[in-house]
Amino acid sequence: MRHIMVMNAKGGCGKSTLATNLASWYATEGATVALADYDPQRSSMDWLERRPANRPEIVGLEAYKDGFKHAPRGADVIVIDAPARSHGKELTNLVRHAETIIVPVLPSTIDMQATTEFLKELNAVGKVERKQAKLGAVGNRIRDNTLIWDELDEYLTKARIPYIAALREAQNYIRAYSRGLGIFELPEYLAWPDWDEWEPLTSWLKSKRSRP
Ligand SMILES: Nc1ncnc2c1ncn2[C@@H]1O[C@H](COP(=O)(O)OP(=O)(O)OP(=O)(O)O)[C@@H](O)[C@H]1O
Ligand SMILES: [Mg+2]
Repeated sequence: MRHIMVMNAKGGCGKSTLATNLASWYATEGATVALADYDPQRSSMDWLERRPANRPEIVGLEAYKDGFKHAPRGADVIVIDAPARSHGKELTNLVRHAETIIVPVLPSTIDMQATTEFLKELNAVGKVERKQAKLGAVGNRIRDNTLIWDELDEYLTKARIPYIAALREAQNYIRAYSRGLGIFELPEYLAWPDWDEWEPLTSWLKSKRSRP
């Protein structure tokens, strides 16, 4: 069973958006998926409650209460939504649950600065130092032709972790969330640009590069 965590101590960078879309992608691929929410804010659980019954099933785990206690036997993957502001012991404990960690970063000076601090802390966690967890960064809410996007692109290229993908800012994410869907479940004519942008991320997840 794989455990993929979406994590950044910085709030509002897209952790729940990436986690719900990842769970939806695995489900549409036919995998047995659980979505574990470590955030008492419950964004991922709220999304799951909106999910139509006729869509491929995703099992919700209220991990902030009882961890993976209700994880389905034989699940292929658990996608984990981590809370903001996780530091110190809490961060170390969260990292224990995953072998692959995706770090979303927004095109904003505040977010890049906060992410630098977060990556210092994350890279110092024993499990990450020993390469028992693989990290990857994803630029999120990109707007083309903005200076700050160029800055983020350069920041992620030089970052201490692999730079996997960049996702645009799109209403599709908002639309999909409110319907309990992922962008992979929206019509192709609307969502194809987002599908293209996710390709490097899903390829990375399929490859050995994302596994310890
Ligand atoms: N690529 C995107 N395009 C448009 N809106 C986005 C995108 N990614 C995230 N958002 C929006 O940005 C806001 C924050 O996203 P999200 O809740 O996923 O972040 P988070 O890191 O989980 O936040 P928190 O730290 O509060 O848990 C939400 O309103 C979400 O709909
Ligand atoms: Mg969240």
